[in-house]
Amino acid sequence: MGERRPEGPPDPSRRAFSVWLWRIPVLAALAGAGFGAREVWRVHFSKAAPADPPRFEAREPVSVAPLERFAAPWDAEAFVLAGLPCLAVRLPVAIPGSLVIAPADAAADAAADDDATVLAGFSRICTHLGCLVDLNLDPEAIAFAFNHRGDAPQLTCACHYSVFDPRRAGRVVSGPAVQPLPRVRLRLVHRDGVAMIEADGAEPPP
Ligand code: FES
Repeated sequence: MGERRPEGPPDPSRRAFSVWLWRIPVLAALAGAGFGAREVWRVHFSKAAPADPPRFEAREPVSVAPLERFAAPWDAEAFVLAGLPCLAVRLPVAIPGSLVIAPADAAADAAADDDATVLAGFSRICTHLGCLVDLNLDPEAIAFAFNHRGDAPQLTCACHYSVFDPRRAGRVVSGPAVQPLPRVRLRLVHRDGVAMIEADGAEPPP
């Protein structure tokens, strides 16, 4: 039988240390909850508005497509501007930074109706985490797959389901992205008698 050691008074420094050990998970949980609340607020209530007017930075001009490629609203063409994947799309309404072509300025074989042709260019790099956005033409599919109900095509990102409204200059209307899609500057040129759309500038990434 061993000799029993006499019990002394509890060590106050060990007691204080064990109390702090219990506080660590509580503080971690509070920090996590605070961060989560901040993210919820940021994602749902602080979507950034596109600049009006946009501040385009010049890029080496690239050809996008003949104007006749955009004969009807929502006709679109993908292209690359200085390494940036982009999309040009014909919109039913003008937005800040869009190219508005009066019927008299268009080639005879384009813009057959009497309305002006409104074209807008957007970066296809999602402002959330950088996946490629696509023009989604089916409002029902957007409502089902992206949880955003509307009445018009949208630019959608399949990675985390952000939705950008081209009629609102690329503003985020759903999903985790906060910043709008950078817009791309388009211009009309005539080459050998053919009306062409070119791109020559882009908003800087957010
Ligand atoms: S990368 Fe587009 S929503 Fe996340």
